[in-house]
Amino acid sequence: MKIFLSVLVTIVVLILIGFIVMYSGAVNVSVLEPPSGLTKWVLSTTMESSVESRAGDIDVPDLTGEEMIQEGAEHYISMCQGCHGAPGMEISEMAKGLEPIPPHLYEEEELEEWSPAEQFWITKHGIMMTGMPAWGTTHSDEEIWNIIAFLRKLPQMSAEEYQLLSSEIKSGKEGESHWEDEEHEHEH
Ligand code: HEC
Repeated sequence: MKIFLSVLVTIVVLILIGFIVMYSGAVNVSVLEPPSGLTKWVLSTTMESSVESRAGDIDVPDLTGEEMIQEGAEHYISMCQGCHGAPGMEISEMAKGLEPIPPHLYEEEELEEWSPAEQFWITKHGIMMTGMPAWGTTHSDEEIWNIIAFLRKLPQMSAEEYQLLSSEIKSGKEGESHWEDEEHEHEH
């Protein structure tokens, strides 16, 4: 009975401390003073474990198709580059003001850190309370896999290759020419 009472008192005290922290304004939500040390570790470890445990069952399709990668590149340039950057391209001012700052998805470590299934899960579901949106609300799984196919190639691209690809895609959209081959010409 005594043990039960002391456990109960401890729980009540902890809940009270929680309320005091919440309502007193002790927590600074400013992005200019981002969390560090223990808080940062708690947040990033929670995020990583959440993604790992949810991405485990996802079946990964073949991501090597040229067409997939091309489609993915179009999406990346219009939807992701501003926040995540690209070879030779800086992230936008908006992205610099986010906490955490969006990681450079074009760096080799990204491929080592995250599997394709994990990247797919993150892109589809987003990451709560960061700037990372859930693209699954507006895009099909197929479209998201195309983006992942491109993400797996991105770290091997040079700044020149990316520039060329980007300008070809943009001019293709304006209807002047389609990027790379004649295969697509019938679409115009
Ligand atoms: C408005 C900014 C923004 C846009 C646009 C955006 N992201 Fe993100 N993304 C983020 C932020 C911020 C994080 C870091 C979240 C974290 O670390 O908890 C992130 C993390 C990620 C990660 C995990 C990588 C890592 O190392 O943590 C992947 C994968 C990712 N984004 C893919 C994409 C893709 C693909 C697109 C485009 C379809 C995209 N993002 C568009 C802000 C953005």
